[in-house]
Amino acid sequence: MAEDNAGYQLDKCQARLAFERAADTYDEVASLQQEIGQRLIGRLDLIRMQPTRILDLGAGTGFFSKALMQHYRKAHVVALDLALAMLHHTRRRGGWLRKPGCVCADAERLPFADDSFDFVFSNLMLQWCMDPELVFAELRRVLAPGGLLLFTTFGPDTLMELRASWEAVDGYTHVNRFIDMHDIGDALMHTRWAEPVMDAERITVTYRELRTLMRDLKQLGAHNVTAARPRGLTGRQRLRQVTEAYERFRRDGVLPASYEVVYGHAWSPVNKHAAATGAVEVPLPGLQPRPLVPPRD
Ligand SMILES: C[S@@+](CC[C@H](N)C(=O)[O-])C[C@H]1O[C@@H](n2cnc3c(N)ncnc32)[C@H](O)[C@@H]1O
Repeated sequence: MAEDNAGYQLDKCQARLAFERAADTYDEVASLQQEIGQRLIGRLDLIRMQPTRILDLGAGTGFFSKALMQHYRKAHVVALDLALAMLHHTRRRGGWLRKPGCVCADAERLPFADDSFDFVFSNLMLQWCMDPELVFAELRRVLAPGGLLLFTTFGPDTLMELRASWEAVDGYTHVNRFIDMHDIGDALMHTRWAEPVMDAERITVTYRELRTLMRDLKQLGAHNVTAARPRGLTGRQRLRQVTEAYERFRRDGVLPASYEVVYGHAWSPVNKHAAATGAVEVPLPGLQPRPLVPPRD
């Protein structure tokens, strides 16, 4: 993990509570999340596979669980989320071909047997996990050999204007920190995925007023849930100070909010069980007996 993430802790209970509370408003303000997920789904057109068991990890209200079922019409889709209220919305979503499985659990401790899925899709969940290696190790366990992991997460430049503006006001952590793309790639390597590929792009959303950005973040459940967050209500004076500090980013009459979007995919190794036991895989031709030659006198 990058050095400036050292000592940075996410409070998972708070994250879960924030998403429980946000479940009713999430879809109204999740246009960026939907746009990013659509771009991720678009990448499936380049990959030839017909998965039958799909896990949507951190499924939220199930928008992409449904899209995945429409994309792979024969597949069984499981929507997993830490927040139960999100899964209630998934269930209530109309127009399913078949109802998905809904599982309330933590991505770091998956309640599935080894090799349960052949495709794991995850849009914007990973940034809520402190240790991507834990998640990747679990995903590698539940993905069958040759299965695909496809995900997005946010990189460190996400909400950099808001972070800088708060830094000008006080010494608390007000904005969640995000792990660098290279560290995510390293975590994939350490957990022994095949052919990991990562890339990133920047998306800027603009707002007329800072309070609209802050309201959207709250309605998404994307609160500050770091252990070093300030406790208690943010006073009017500090809100005024951060609003003033953010003004230095105003261009062409609007305030930018930057998002560094990280895309990744990797494969579960076809010989993952052999690798786990230390066994050596020998291709069949190497095992074929040599033709017997009668011994000479
Ligand atoms: C930004 S939302 C994305 C939801 C959905 N994938 C989408 O694209 O609309 C992140 C989701 O991840 C879930 N989440 C956060 N931490 C999690 C964890 N450790 N395990 C499982 N889900 C988690 C949250 O409850 C939330 O629903």
